[in-house]
Amino acid sequence: MGNSLTFPVPENLRPGDRLSRMVGRWRSGGIEHYAAGARHQGAERWRSGERFIVNQERIWLDALPSVFNGLRIVQISDIHHGLFLPKEWLLEAVQQANRLNPDIIALTGDFVTYSRRNIDPAAEILGRLRARYGVFAVLGNHDFRVDADAVTQALRRRRIDVLRNRHISLGFGGSSLYLAGVDDYGYGADLRRAVRGIPPEAATILMAHNPRIIRLASRHNVSLVLSGHTHGGQFNVPLLGTIYGRSPERLRYKIGWDKLGTTQIYVSRGIGTIVLPWRLRCPAEITHLELLEGAAGVSAAAAD
Ligand SMILES: [Fe+2]
Repeated sequence: MGNSLTFPVPENLRPGDRLSRMVGRWRSGGIEHYAAGARHQGAERWRSGERFIVNQERIWLDALPSVFNGLRIVQISDIHHGLFLPKEWLLEAVQQANRLNPDIIALTGDFVTYSRRNIDPAAEILGRLRARYGVFAVLGNHDFRVDADAVTQALRRRRIDVLRNRHISLGFGGSSLYLAGVDDYGYGADLRRAVRGIPPEAATILMAHNPRIIRLASRHNVSLVLSGHTHGGQFNVPLLGTIYGRSPERLRYKIGWDKLGTTQIYVSRGIGTIVLPWRLRCPAEITHLELLEGAAGVSAAAAD
């Protein structure tokens, strides 16, 4: 990793600032531009020969025990394996993720779109993912519409730990980091159950397909939420902004890093598409997060 940039988040905005912030969000399709925002884009790394952009971010967590300082998580979201995202592309995503040599891989739902036929092939390819402490998954709304139990079983057969309203803990030297996961927001997400037993002061990462969980997560001392679902809007039309996800809440937590209270969130644009097999000014991403001990915040990690 090279240099890093910090991104100040304006908390006390004047009414005029609020309006321009709102307009800016609308035009940029939910991407918030802070003072150093232009350089934030520099965190996106694309190498010739690689299909997907890797978005590298550093996130500081107050509660992170020092033994976990530098823990790296690769997140892949909204795969939607099928006609729009064929096997070859998914295989490329897996190879890119493995090359990052992550500690944890987080798969944040929507493995398929409409068809049960795509479940086993997707799981077979995802079974090739390798991470030091494991590969974890939560289910998205499309997985529930297709067959949640079939998706769960297929992933588990490939040694991918599907976190359905439960958590696991990683322990080192007497310190623990908790990784929790909930079912999709509209299909039985039970955060209370997922975090039951986690000490309130502990560092907790929550995998949740839909970023709407942020409000609940902020009331349960979650340190960081990893989400997808929005596809970043998928189509980001100049001047108009994104077509999908126009409600205020969806505009707020649509792309990238944000926070609510002490809970931070990262919303991945994902790698797949729905409705149409295209994206506009909203490229697919594989996310590479580095967690650091310290005052809450985010910076773009320069490409290594
Ligand atoms: Fe999706």
